[in-house]
Amino acid sequence: MTDRLTIRRPDDWHVHLRDGAMLGHVAKYTAAQFARAIIMPNLSPPVTTAKEGAAYRDRIRAAVPGMDFTPLIVAYLTDHSDPDEMARGHAEGVFTAAKLYPAHATTGSAHGVTDIAKIMPVLERMAEIGMPLLIHGEVTDHDVDIFDREAVFIDRTLKGLVRDLPELKIVFEHITTSEAVDFVKAAPANVAATITPQHLHINRNAMLVGGIRPHAYCLPVAKREAHRLAVRAAAVSGSPKFFLGTDSAPHAVHTKEAACGCAGIFNAPFALESYIAVFDEEGALDKFEGFASEHGPNFYGLPLNGGTVTLERGETVVPDRCGEVVPFHAGETLGWRLA
Ligand code: DOR
Ligand code: ZN
Repeated sequence: MTDRLTIRRPDDWHVHLRDGAMLGHVAKYTAAQFARAIIMPNLSPPVTTAKEGAAYRDRIRAAVPGMDFTPLIVAYLTDHSDPDEMARGHAEGVFTAAKLYPAHATTGSAHGVTDIAKIMPVLERMAEIGMPLLIHGEVTDHDVDIFDREAVFIDRTLKGLVRDLPELKIVFEHITTSEAVDFVKAAPANVAATITPQHLHINRNAMLVGGIRPHAYCLPVAKREAHRLAVRAAAVSGSPKFFLGTDSAPHAVHTKEAACGCAGIFNAPFALESYIAVFDEEGALDKFEGFASEHGPNFYGLPLNGGTVTLERGETVVPDRCGEVVPFHAGETLGWRLA
């Protein structure tokens, strides 16, 4: 039995660090676990220009003084995004990628894209310059059931996009369904996906059985068990198309425990301990380094990190609170710890 695992330093390819006091509180958790992270731009107002991106990068760096951590900034696409601004931000090294939020799909997406046709000039330019498109893949149509919104997005939007822009690098973020797994596997090598710890650990029962549990609610919402198993199989498969992206999304406890609670699971403090438990349960510890530390940078065309982290078998007791935020696995004991 493997009791200790040393891997190249990992990265988080999808995280929400917020701004202001919340940034000051949560950034250290991500910086303690990961060398780099793709920082989501759904602030209020969103990060849309290279100037705003550079300023946000500075605020993140200032929030983790002395820590060896590189924030990778992402542009938030709107109906009015300018191809030149995106290309300039990318050329200046400010924008690593751009994020497509369908308008009103999730937290902070009110300024998102209402129709993908409106941003085709931006996407064509991104394809030309090799700038990845990160997608929140859910339709927002009121007639589509929330548990079906990811699968319907594949049919209504993603298939056409991959067909029309075959050169565009696409990351299908936080996938939750067997349909998404199958789509990504069958797509060309320039289409990949991130996978969160929560979608490996929980199905929709966690949210709804025995009472309504707001801390298990995120978007895309956890699906039924067959989907969780498909996503787990993809994560541990060793395929370079699947990599680590926590989607850690902190909300103060009173905004989750409310009549209309916010979507988002805060998993940053124990993300690696959470992920490795899954690889251990699946008998796939040998695939963990690829998922956590190699597939992401290889997809983005960035160097692998130097340095290592070691995880070992042993108890990690997850507290009920980290400040004003309830962490994923609150009150549980995980079977691995950072050495
Ligand atoms: O659960 C989520 N929370 N999903 C998202 O897409 C956004 C995120 C947030 O920003 O809170
Ligand atoms: Zn997210």
